Amino acid sequence: MFKKLRNKFLVLNILVTSIVMLTAFCVVYLTTYRNTQSEIEQKLNNVTGSFTVSESESPEDSGVDLSGKSVDEKRVTSFNKVTSDYAPSFILTVDKFGNILEINSLIDISGTQYAEAASIAWEENNDSAIVIAGRTWRYKIAPLQITHIQNGEQTRFESEDQFQILFLDVTDMQKNLSNLAITFLLVGMGMLAVIFVISIIYANRAIEPISESWEKQKQFIADASHELKTPLTTIMTNCDVLEANEDETIKSQKEWLGYIRIGTDRMSKLINRLLTLAKIEGMETKTEKQSFDISAMIHEVMQSMDAAAAIKNLRIERRIEFAGDIYGYVDFLRQVFIILYENAIKYTDESGSIEITVQRMRNRVSCTVKNTGKGISAKDLPHVFDRFYRSDTVRSNDENSYGLGLSIAKSIVEQIDGKITAKSMENEWTEFTFTFEI
Ligand SMILES: Nc1ncnc2c1ncn2[C@@H]1O[C@H](COP(=O)(O)OP(=O)(O)OP(=O)(O)O)[C@@H](O)[C@H]1O
Ligand SMILES: [Mg+2]
Repeated sequence: MFKKLRNKFLVLNILVTSIVMLTAFCVVYLTTYRNTQSEIEQKLNNVTGSFTVSESESPEDSGVDLSGKSVDEKRVTSFNKVTSDYAPSFILTVDKFGNILEINSLIDISGTQYAEAASIAWEENNDSAIVIAGRTWRYKIAPLQITHIQNGEQTRFESEDQFQILFLDVTDMQKNLSNLAITFLLVGMGMLAVIFVISIIYANRAIEPISESWEKQKQFIADASHELKTPLTTIMTNCDVLEANEDETIKSQKEWLGYIRIGTDRMSKLINRLLTLAKIEGMETKTEKQSFDISAMIHEVMQSMDAAAAIKNLRIERRIEFAGDIYGYVDFLRQVFIILYENAIKYTDESGSIEITVQRMRNRVSCTVKNTGKGISAKDLPHVFDRFYRSDTVRSNDENSYGLGLSIAKSIVEQIDGKITAKSMENEWTEFTFTFEI
């Protein structure tokens, strides 16, 4: 169940991270791609906007300019518009059949490669990219711009039978784009791997306490059901006996009725303990602290259990090492003291002794209940606060012990931000101390 939950959590985590990462990478890549494309477009447009200057005295003389040079010759000199800004690039001027008329270039490639470039560009004419001399070129075909200057006046028009093809080397830009894509891919995969590992660690850590408390809860229900089974069986068996002797008087059946009473008492104690536990664990707000006399509270509890202590002939000593009222959760503290005192009476051997000490250290008060007796073994000591935990001797001998008292005491003490500890020396003494703020 928890493995499934963990895997779901992992898949969701990786999915969300991948989507976020993919979106971020796509946005960056597409933006870079668009910027590169518009940069190429801009460069192509700028250069094809270059023009041929043709000077003549009159439009009729358009074949010869003022210096006596032919228009074609003049064009060659004035056409030198390929600058280092747009390098590496070259411009081919072609006639309407795609034959090269002029080559204006800053790069060094052979005449056949120019011819090949011109013929591919002229045939495809779709402004796409071509590969010449091992480099990738984008090109643009535009009619030749002619400017007439006559008597200082300029007239611009487009030639109908001559065209310029600008070739721009985009190899590096495309390489940059594909490098960017590869980098994103590698970084993305690396990051996903790292995120996967981190997610597994965190998912396991996050699920561990949930799964632990789930297991504890399951164990608790199993233990509680088991504990309820014994008194229930007692009650049922004795009811059967009563039914089998229905003509007998109540007086003569007293023995069976007595067993039924023991069973119901046991169940009632267990249910009360379970209810207390549930109440404490589910409690979200504490009751108000109030001023009280701890000495009086202890005295009251001891009085209520005098009979039990007297039967065992116990010697009880009480030492309150300060005077005056303190401030605290009196009802909670009383419950904890009852549990510890009850245990002390229960687990002290006959004629043993119990010692109760209350001390004050600045804003804290500690209450220690120490008793002689068998004590708790080092093996049992770390578990005494676990629910339903009883030492082996108690488990087999005591019908009226559930192993819930100390776990209730611990829950209460934690609820009021206090602390409870246990110490013991086997066959000598046992000591429980709870400390709380006042
Ligand atoms: N004062 C003590 N001296 C010796 N052993 C103790 C003492 N208090 C507790 N223990 C040991 O710790 C175990 C747990 O105590 P806890 O009070 O939780 O349960 P319990 O007394 O067995 O049953 P319950 O309190 O639910 O009736 C006991 O079974 C006993 O073995
Ligand atoms: Mg107890």
